[in-house]
Formats: sequence, structure tokens, C-alpha cells
Amino acid sequence: MTGAAALAVPMRPMAVRRYFGLFGTYLAPQWPRALLLGVLVLGGVGLQLVGPQLVRGLIDAARAGREPWVLTETALLFLAAAVAQQVIAVGTGYVGADVGWTATKRLRTDLLAHCLSLDLVFHSARTPGEMIERVDTDVATLANFFSQLGIRLLSSVLLLGGVLVLLYREDWRLGLGFTTFAAVALAALRRVPAAAASRWRQVRQLGAELFGSVGEYLSGIEDLRRCGAVGYALRRFFELSRTLMRTDRAANMAGSLLWIAPIGVFAAGHALALALGGYLLGAGAITLGTVFLVFSYAELLRRPIDQINAQLQDLQRAAASIVRVDELLHTTSAIQDGAGRLLPPGPLSVELDRVTFSYPGADRGKPVLRDVSFRLEPGQVLGLLGRTGSGKTTIGRLLFRFYDAALGSVRVGGVDVRDVRVVDLRTRIGLVTQEVQLFHASVRDNLTFFDCGIPDGLIEGALRALGLEEWLRALPHGLDTVLPPGGGGLSAGQAQLLAFARVFLQDPDLIILDEASSRLDPATERRLDEAIERLLAGRTAIVIAHRLATIERADQILVLEDGRVAAAGTLEELLPDCQELRALMNFDDQRMTAHTAG
Ligand SMILES: Nc1ncnc2c1ncn2[C@@H]1O[C@H](COP(=O)(O)OP(=O)(O)OP(=O)(O)O)[C@@H](O)[C@H]1O
Ligand SMILES: [Mg+2]
Repeated sequence: MTGAAALAVPMRPMAVRRYFGLFGTYLAPQWPRALLLGVLVLGGVGLQLVGPQLVRGLIDAARAGREPWVLTETALLFLAAAVAQQVIAVGTGYVGADVGWTATKRLRTDLLAHCLSLDLVFHSARTPGEMIERVDTDVATLANFFSQLGIRLLSSVLLLGGVLVLLYREDWRLGLGFTTFAAVALAALRRVPAAAASRWRQVRQLGAELFGSVGEYLSGIEDLRRCGAVGYALRRFFELSRTLMRTDRAANMAGSLLWIAPIGVFAAGHALALALGGYLLGAGAITLGTVFLVFSYAELLRRPIDQINAQLQDLQRAAASIVRVDELLHTTSAIQDGAGRLLPPGPLSVELDRVTFSYPGADRGKPVLRDVSFRLEPGQVLGLLGRTGSGKTTIGRLLFRFYDAALGSVRVGGVDVRDVRVVDLRTRIGLVTQEVQLFHASVRDNLTFFDCGIPDGLIEGALRALGLEEWLRALPHGLDTVLPPGGGGLSAGQAQLLAFARVFLQDPDLIILDEASSRLDPATERRLDEAIERLLAGRTAIVIAHRLATIERADQILVLEDGRVAAAGTLEELLPDCQELRALMNFDDQRMTAHTAG
């Protein structure tokens, strides 16, 4: 990045507005401490400027032959200023870090909460790594900015400005001379790192070429010998080595400029101080003490001039983070809360009315559901069947409002899901998906989703109802046992049962059960069937079923084929004619005969 381009961005009005927006939001609540910080920064800079003034007074007083107590008093003041400067430096560091970390902690929390509230379209377009980068790395850059960089840059600029103003106050020629010096020095030192960096890039590039060609010659050595090209290869090797050596030398020179240039620049500053000071002293415009003052101020300029460039580059990095964080904070979820219509109490009816849906951005918008309609009365169980990819899980996602249908309407309890507040809808619907996500947390937290308002008795009751009593008893610390990351150590059946326990505790009025198709052992299957029986009692349910036992329990069957309704009715109605259904259920003739006979 070139210096000019690097420095252009923070000055853009857009970015500036974002800075202030973000500062306002996160610093305003801590304004007393932010104010204290400002006072400390100003005080620190002021004390740095006062030191040389005191020494000037001391020199002039000594030369004027003033009484010793005046000298002692000035010397003591100088000492006090030096001590106060250190105390203020410590205070600035402490308050700065405190304000910065408080602000970033809030920002991080807000950002995480915001990300979690965004819809699945947003999340599926981004990798978890990208989100971590935003919430962690960018915020850490901002923390550094809030707590250190901002303060350092501010005090550098104040110090630079303060020195120049005070020099103008002494004599306009001093002011003008050092303003020019500061501008030239800043501009000169800005170019040095870029020059070195581009040379080093060349060195690495040439090194890669050199080793690449050596490797090529070695692997082609037989061919090289056969056609007598060894001489050519060697000459080429020498040429490359020579270029590499020259570039390397230039890069080293440019690299040493990194430390030589500031030394040269500041030597020039000191020379300027002595030349101008000497001249003005000779002309009788200033005192000897002032010559010392000018020299000290030239020395004071060293730090801001040396650091402002680097700080501006860091600011550039922080600016990029600010823009990214702000963009993320201003991304709105595609799923917005409805007007707040209430769902009726008790089991909820479900109705899909000519629903067509495609996943945003996927497969050129090819519909995953086409014109799907069905109605399920409160308290009934719908068995949803279909080949893999036919859209079964998608129906559940629409009901839960992970996505909104493009056409048609989805109604729960007679109310369009888009008219209900999302949280109201989701607390009334229980969703058990194919993959059970278990957290690296205690069994209790895994079941209650960190809701500490649920009493242990209720949790144990749910586990008992699901036949997990023995399992619970075998746990070393009972409900406090921490599950390993990713739910390791649990069988697929146990994980599924835990997911049921979660829904039990949630006590929803509509259950969407996306049954895992993986094969379970017969004992677990039996246990699952009992659990499902208990789970579905008194609630409306949509069961995406792969097993006969679940389908037999359904009041209605809906068969999906490539996103369309292929068949709908009761199991008895569909079984004799619906080939698709029989194929899906893997019905063998024997079982079917038994079923139709019974
Ligand atoms: N997040 C997504 N983004 C894009 N396309 C998706 C997404 N989820 C599913 N699909 C596509 O939508 C179609 C229906 O998927 P869905 O998960 O609803 O099928 P399913 O009937 O539940 O299948 P299975 O029995 O394998 O679980 C598939 O073609 C799938 O590729
Ligand atoms: Mg599915």
C-alpha cells in the first residue's frame, strides 16, 4: 500500500462519520472517564512543553545573576513537572485501557448478538472464520485503537502543534523554520518504509526464480547434457545470481535507511535549532535561555515526527476495521419481526397455501418447493415423506421462519407467520433436526439452552420420561457433567433423545421432528418410539419420518416429490396405490399384507 493511498481512507467523509458514530455510541456512556482521559492527555503534553520553558527561565535567571532561591525554586518546579509527567503517563495508560476495553467489550457483545440475530441467508453466505475475524480480530484492532493508538496519535499531534505554536510565540522565524522542517521531515520519513518494502519484495521474487531454475536444471540434467546446454544454464544462473545480489544490496541499503533516515533528519533538526538560535541570539532577538529552549523543542519534535506516520498507518488499519464492523452492525436481517399478532393458545394448526420457495442465491433460484398446499388440524400428526432433497426439511425451516416463502403463505394457528413476532413464533414451535448440536457445556445447560430458570426437577422429569434415567445416574456429576466438545461420547440415539428432552422442556404447541435416517439398534428404536409417543401427545406435529413406526402414528401423510406434493391422505388411503410411498417406506410385501389385514 502506498503512503498516499493509505492515508486517504481515514479522511473520507463516510469513514469519518462512521468513526464518530461508533465513538458516540461506545464512548458516550463513559463520558466522565473519556473526559478525564482527554484532560490527562492534554496535561501530559502540556507538562512536556513546560519543562524546557523552566530550564530557559533557569538559564536566563542565572545569567542575569538573580538570587539563588529563584534558581532553586525553578529547579524544584522542573523536578515536580518531571514527576507529574510520569504520573500522568501512567494514569493515561490506565484510563485509556479502561475506557478502550469497556467500549470494545460492549461493541463485541453487540456485534455477537447482532450476528446471532441475522438470518440464515446471511450466515450461509459467510464462513464461520469470516465471522470470527469480524467479531474478534477487527474488534481487537479497534480495542487497540480505542485504548492506545487514538491517545498516542492525539498526543503526537498535540505535541507537534504545541511546539510549533510556542516557537511562533518566541519568534516568527523560529515558527516558520520548524513548521517547514516538520513538514519536510514527515514527508521524507513517510517514503522510506515503502521503498524498502518494494525492494525486499523484488529480492524474494528473484530468489524464488533462482531456486526455481536450479531445481529445473537439476531435474532436467540429462537433457541439458545431451543437447550441450550446460554452459547456457550456468550463464543463466550467473546472471540471475548477479541480479539477486544487486537487488539484495539495494534492499539492504534501503533497509538501513529505515534507521539512518530518522537520525539524519533529526540531526538536521538540531542543526537548524542551533543555526537559527545562534543567528537570532546574535541579532539580539532572543536570550541564551531561549536558544536552549529551541534546541529542546527540536528534540521534543523527534517523537511525534518519528511516530505520526506509523500511527497514521495503524489508523488506516483501524479505519478498515471500523468500516467492516459498522457495515456488519448495519446489516439487517431479511427476517423481520411481524406486527405482533398473537397465536391462539393450545395445539396450533398448520397451513401452507400455494407455497413456492427457493434458497436465495442457490442454483440460479431453482424452486425447492413448488406450489405446496396442505392443512393440518390442531393436535394432528402429519407424516412427511419424500426422497432425499425433495424439500422436507425446507418446509420445517419455513414454519420456523428461518426463511420466508417467495410466493404463497405459511400460516400457524391461522396466522401468517410473517405477522407474528419471530420470538413468539419460535417459542411455540419445537424443532428437532437431523443433526443434534450439543455444546461443550453441562448436561443441564445443554438441555435448558442456558436458561437457569428451569428447575432441576423438571429436567430430571424430562429425562425420566425419555427413559434416560439410567444414563443420568451413570454420569459422574449428574446434570453438572460437562459434555465433551461436539457432543462426543454420546451415541446417535442418545443425542437424539437429548434433543427430545430439550423440546420437552420447551413444551411447544407444534413440533417439527426431522427424524434422523441413520439406523439405530432395536432397543434404542423402541425407546425413541416411546419418547416420540410422549412428545407428540396433545400437540400438533410434523414428522419427517423414515421409520414405519412413526409413519403409522401419523393422522395424515404427505408425499413430496421434487418440491411438489405427490400424494396426500391417510396411510390407509395411500398405501394400496401410492408406489412412491411404498418405495420410500421400503415396505416388504409381508409387512404390508399384515398392515392392510390388521
Ligand atoms: N441452505 C441451503 N441453501 C441452498 N440450497 C439448499 C439449502 N438447503 C437445502 N437446499 C436444497 O434444497 C433442496 C431440498 O432440501 P431439503 O433439505 O429440504 O431436502 P430433504 O427433503 O429434507 O432431504 P433429506 O431427506 O436428505 O433430508 C435440495 O435440493 C437441497 O440441495
Ligand atoms: Mg432433510
